[in-house]
Amino acid sequence: MDRDRRLKLAVQKSGRLTEPSLDLLVRCGLKLSRGKDQLVGFGENMPLDVLFVRDDDIPDLVQEDVCDLGLVGRNVLEEKRLALEARGVRVSFETLRLLDFGRCRLSIAVPKDTAWDGAGTLAGKRIATTYPHLLARFLAERNIVADIVTLSGAVEIAPRLGRADVICDLVSTGSTLEANHLVEVETVLESHAVLIRTPVALPPLKNDWVERLLMRIDGVQQVKESKYIMLHAPRAALDEIRRLLPGSESPTIIPLEGHPDKVAIHAVCRENVFWETLESLKRAGASALLVLPVEKMLS
Ligand code: PRP
Ligand code: ZN
Repeated sequence: MDRDRRLKLAVQKSGRLTEPSLDLLVRCGLKLSRGKDQLVGFGENMPLDVLFVRDDDIPDLVQEDVCDLGLVGRNVLEEKRLALEARGVRVSFETLRLLDFGRCRLSIAVPKDTAWDGAGTLAGKRIATTYPHLLARFLAERNIVADIVTLSGAVEIAPRLGRADVICDLVSTGSTLEANHLVEVETVLESHAVLIRTPVALPPLKNDWVERLLMRIDGVQQVKESKYIMLHAPRAALDEIRRLLPGSESPTIIPLEGHPDKVAIHAVCRENVFWETLESLKRAGASALLVLPVEKMLS
């Protein structure tokens, strides 16, 4: 039965997470074919299919075991968690990985000419948002009583329409706020993408693939900043050069034929290697410096 063999992963249909989510899956080796039915992508080389849905639906789809996995923003996930808890429903999706994309924040923003003197300024104000639960928690934690105006979208124009005094909305580049003459004044929640899974136990075959996928995701996240660096160094400068190599545990040191006073050093650096680092290495006596991107890593 297909249900027992193929994983279903929910991904945002169109929005800030769509492209980086698909990019992550491609880096994990997935070949996806999307036919006429744009809502489901079929994994050609893995028993994994991708469902393209509204991001707000992803926690429910996973919680209700319609999908096994979901890639969703922490903002959507935490809002849903609070909404379910308010209804007395126990939250049971499990967060498997925090991911390094989809960074944004849920923030309070006010019209440009507003006098702002800290969160207390919100007392008695009408605040438009699509995140009523996160906003309510933020206000309650600060003992602020305000009027939450729950909207389903286009929050940024609410002050101009006279529906609210201020807003609580997602900000990433800030261009939406800028275009609507609003200024960000407080952060309610920092967000990024997360991978969640169903609370229901999976059959062994599917479980194995979840494990493999996690291992690949870890590998992808590790190599993003990693570089492979090669250089020649005088033996006398070895200690200093090892000290300068950013985030590398045990470099390989190779003798150089015909140069008893020199060695070649190869190292994986877990951080980006900047020009400044190369310049310091050169000053310490290094030559023939070469920095290569790392494509895959498995430890
Ligand atoms: C958010 C938010 C703003 C925009 C801000 O919407 O509501 O419209 O992103 O981004 P910016 O700072 O880069 O301009 P989102 O795309 O998440 O849509 P959704 O809430 O409907 O999922
Ligand atoms: Zn959304």
